[in-house]
Amino acid sequence: MQPVTLTRYLVEEQRAGRISAELRQLISVVVRACTTISIAVGKGALGGVLGEAGTGNVQGEAQKKLDVISNEILLEANAWGGHLAACASEEMDHCQPVPDEFPKGHFLLLFDPLDGSSNIDVNVSVGTIFSVLRCPDDCTEPKDEDFLQPGREQVAAGYCIYGPQTMLVLTTGHGTHAFTLDREQGLFVLTQRDMQVPPATKEFALNMSNQRHWEPQMQAYVGDLLAGTDGPRGKDFNMRWIASMVADVHRILTRGGIFIYPWDAKDASKAGKLRLMYEANPMGMLVEQAGGLASTGRERILDIQPDQLHQRVPVFIGSREEVEAAERYHAQG
Ligand code: AHG
Ligand code: MN
Ligand code: MN
Repeated sequence: MQPVTLTRYLVEEQRAGRISAELRQLISVVVRACTTISIAVGKGALGGVLGEAGTGNVQGEAQKKLDVISNEILLEANAWGGHLAACASEEMDHCQPVPDEFPKGHFLLLFDPLDGSSNIDVNVSVGTIFSVLRCPDDCTEPKDEDFLQPGREQVAAGYCIYGPQTMLVLTTGHGTHAFTLDREQGLFVLTQRDMQVPPATKEFALNMSNQRHWEPQMQAYVGDLLAGTDGPRGKDFNMRWIASMVADVHRILTRGGIFIYPWDAKDASKAGKLRLMYEANPMGMLVEQAGGLASTGRERILDIQPDQLHQRVPVFIGSREEVEAAERYHAQG
C-alpha cells in the first residue's frame, strides 16, 4: 500500500466534500512554511538562528531570533496565494491584511509561529501552532475585530512539532490526524489516523513553581493529585513539564494526560499565561476532535467569545475524565 502523503490526504478530503479547494491550498502553504521553519530550527547555531532578536513583542516578551524568522516565513508564504484575507500572530500587535497587490481569499490565519521559544537555545522540542477562521462575508479590509470569533468557528487547526521527528497534527473538523516529515523527500506522510486521547490518565503537565499563586480550588485539585493513593483520588500521578505547549499537548494526544496553565496571582490582571486565539483555541479543537476536553476550569474554551486578539485564558486540556475532575474542584465555592 502506497504511503498516504499530506497532499493525497487533502485531495481525498476535498473529493469527499469535507474541505474546499481553497482550504486545501491554504493548509498546503502553511505546512510548506512549517517545513521551512523546521529546516531553520534544525540548523541551530550553524544557521545563526539562536539567541535573542533584541526586540520585544505585544506580549511584553523578549523575542528570540527564531520567533521573528518563523513569523516572517509564515507571512511571506501566505501573501500571494489568494486563499487568505489576513494573518494574525503572537508576534504582531495587529492583524496583517494580504498586500493589496495580491487577491484576497476567504480565510483568516492565526499562528504562534514558534511555541516554546524558551527551549530553542537548549535544543528542546518547539513548534508552530495555527488556526483557520472564515473571513466575514462583508469584510474587504480585514481588521482585528474580524478575528474575534469563538474557537468553535475554526475550520481547521494544527501544529507542527520540531522534535526528534518533525510532525504535523491536523484537524479540519473530521478527526485529528498525524503526519511525519520524510526529510529525504520533504513530504509529510500520514502516520496516525484518528488520534484518540485516552479518557483517563495518571499524568499531569503543570509548572509547579507557581503553586503559591494559585486560587484555592486549584490548590485543592493539585493537592489531591499529589496525595496520590493516600488521598481521595486513590491513584498515584506522574508529572511532566516541557514548557513547550506543542510538546506537552503532543504527548497528551499520543498517550493521554492533562495539560494545565491556570490563572495565577503573579499578574492578577492577566486571565492566564496562554493566548486564546492561537494557542488555546487550535489546541482545543485538536484535542476535542480526538475525544478530549479543553476548558478554562469553568467553561469550554471553544465557546469563549473573544474580545481581544491577544487575550489570555486559563487552560485545562486533555483526557476527558481528568479535565472533568479539575472542573469539579473549580465548581466548589
Ligand atoms: P511561547 O514560546 O509561544 O511564548 O509559548 C510558551 C508557552 C507554552 O508553550 C508553554 O507551555 C508555557 O509558555 C511555558 O510557560 P512557563 O515558562 O511559565 O513554564
Ligand atoms: Mn506559544
Ligand atoms: Mn511563540
